[in-house]
Amino acid sequence: MNSSMPDDFRKKIDQELAAGNNADRRPQRSKNKQRPDSKPYIKKTGHKNPDKVRPGNRPDMGIMTTTLWEYPSQHYDSQLGNMQGSKDYIGATPSWVIYQLLKRYTKPGDTVIDPMCGSGTTLDVCKDLGRKGIGYDLNPHPQRPDITQNDSRKLPLRNESTDFAFIDPPYSTHVDYSDDDRCIGKLDAGRAPDRTQQVMGQDYYQAMDAVLGELYRVLKPGGFLGLYVSDSWKKKKGKSGDQSGTFMPIGFELFSMMSQAFTPVDIICVVRHNNKLQRGNWHKSAEQENFFLRGFNYLFIMKKQPR
Ligand SMILES: C[S@@+](CC[C@H](N)C(=O)[O-])C[C@H]1O[C@@H](n2cnc3c(N)ncnc32)[C@H](O)[C@@H]1O
Repeated sequence: MNSSMPDDFRKKIDQELAAGNNADRRPQRSKNKQRPDSKPYIKKTGHKNPDKVRPGNRPDMGIMTTTLWEYPSQHYDSQLGNMQGSKDYIGATPSWVIYQLLKRYTKPGDTVIDPMCGSGTTLDVCKDLGRKGIGYDLNPHPQRPDITQNDSRKLPLRNESTDFAFIDPPYSTHVDYSDDDRCIGKLDAGRAPDRTQQVMGQDYYQAMDAVLGELYRVLKPGGFLGLYVSDSWKKKKGKSGDQSGTFMPIGFELFSMMSQAFTPVDIICVVRHNNKLQRGNWHKSAEQENFFLRGFNYLFIMKKQPR
């Protein structure tokens, strides 16, 4: 890990705070109607309007009380739609993870930002819970006009203007999100140091450092941040055999970077329900080549200390 990163991170935050309001344009308001009150739209078993109840009911969601989270679906049942975000968007965040965070750390009417909003899962959960969602992405889902295109290394928001931030960033190069060169998913967190890079994966961590610095800047003091991420393991091309790949401890690295500015609140282990994990051949190579498939994601919860 680049030992100068924490200093860069602090310097950036200090500069941003000293600069004051640097917003030259405000985010577009969601065209979708916000719920005026606090009543959640989450479906309850035995709802009175059967037309609105989705068949194949998922269980009701209570608040998770341990640090091990599991739910038997990517989405929860809601009366605003059958799902939150898009199940076809590769790398979409499980909506119930965001739901749990918003229930605990926000109240109705609070402003929630997701700088890498993808298919809009965070915005849909915000609608369900009566929060004001602000979504950005470099490559917004084409059917989501409520997501503004933006590189999250610079957010068009005022300092200390949001109550909560959620982010599910690329985990190194595991998914090809877009052709845009600015996509952080093009930066290899396992890239070996060379003349241009002093430490492994330096470009990836520097990009994430800038994004996290922006989230710190726009969060109100006392506000919370949730970061959902997985470590990564990349097989060496063409090679097979004992551990012929690179392990990237992305979770630990990002946690350590965030801890330079935020106060850690907790670490949740979210069990992955990835269909790919059902594939027999993946398990066979994991055993034969002596590596592990990813079985969980981290959910890091951080707080920006009140003044
Ligand atoms: C894991 S996905 C997020 C999925 C999203 N939470 C959802 O549920 O659909 C990561 C997202 O980061 C976006 N991204 C990558 N680099 C970015 C950048 N520099 N600025 C903004 N978004 C970026 C990608 O386009 C992708 O949509």
